[in-house]
Amino acid sequence: MEEKIAKIKSEAGRKIDSVVKSLEDLNDIRVKVLGKKGELTSILRGMKDIAETERPRIGQIVNDARRELEALIEEKNRELKAKMLTSKLEAEKLDVTLPGRRVVRGHLHPLTVTMNRIKHIFMEMGYSVEEGPEVERDHFNFEALNLPKDHPARDMQDSFYITEEILMRTHTSPVQARTMQAHEPNSPIRMIAPGRVYRRDDYDATHSPMFTQVEGLVVDQGIRFSDLKGTLETFLRQIFNDKVGVRFRPSFFPFTEPSTEVDISCVICQGDGCRVCKGTGWLEILGAGMVHPNVLKASGYDPEKVSGFAFGMGVERIAMLSYGMDDLRLFFDNDVRFLEQF
Ligand code: DAH
Repeated sequence: MEEKIAKIKSEAGRKIDSVVKSLEDLNDIRVKVLGKKGELTSILRGMKDIAETERPRIGQIVNDARRELEALIEEKNRELKAKMLTSKLEAEKLDVTLPGRRVVRGHLHPLTVTMNRIKHIFMEMGYSVEEGPEVERDHFNFEALNLPKDHPARDMQDSFYITEEILMRTHTSPVQARTMQAHEPNSPIRMIAPGRVYRRDDYDATHSPMFTQVEGLVVDQGIRFSDLKGTLETFLRQIFNDKVGVRFRPSFFPFTEPSTEVDISCVICQGDGCRVCKGTGWLEILGAGMVHPNVLKASGYDPEKVSGFAFGMGVERIAMLSYGMDDLRLFFDNDVRFLEQF
């Protein structure tokens, strides 16, 4: 019996010793020797067949063997785990001396920058910023702006129609009507409306079928043309420079009466005359006027009680002049070599 136990012990010891990698192999050995049906365990189970006088001694030997093997397994277990950790650390080693990968930082598009500057100036003057849909109803785009169906001025803005009654807005002016209709009749309004507009146009250095405008509308009791002049002069001197000349020329828009086009002195030649201003010394920058009584009426406002002024400007044009650019397509072609310069 003692020999048998010694044999089990030494064989198991050898096997434990020979395990080099797998914790599972080690566990298999433990089960085979020390488990419920293990070799040593079955000797303890068979004690009843051993002479009573021998039992304590044999029991002692078995338990000693068991303790020794458990200790061996425990030690091997620790050894294997340490080995695994070392090789894992080795495999996942980080070279912290490698140079890092640079994160390329994005930035705002030049049109967005210009738009933000425009918004900022008007917000400082107490204007709210309104929005309207790019797919617009004929009613808001034309009808409510004193442009009935047969009005010849509709031809000034060749449009993308979706149905008879729905089109891509040709300007941001419909937001004037939308804003008035969203207000209590005759209540004061001081708003700008930035956004994209669409026209059946060529795509060349100065035209694009999609471009960006900012609309403005002020309505209140006693609003006069002098308010319009003062506001636009203040705006233009902030967006360009405080020395810029501002000139108002009579013009026509169906939604304003009287109407005006506003010029600034050429920012390239300072008024001497150059290619950009076509020798005139002036650059046309926006359209404006006193809100036509029909426009107020169409949106529920009473022209006997309130008056207002409105204006509309092209953001691309303002951006081109501020950055000294001569081709509008640069804004839309998304060539990073261009965009990176801002
Ligand atoms: N909507 C006009 C256009 O797109 C621009 C404009 C002119 C807007 C005069 C106005 C205005 O509000 O008063 O050509």
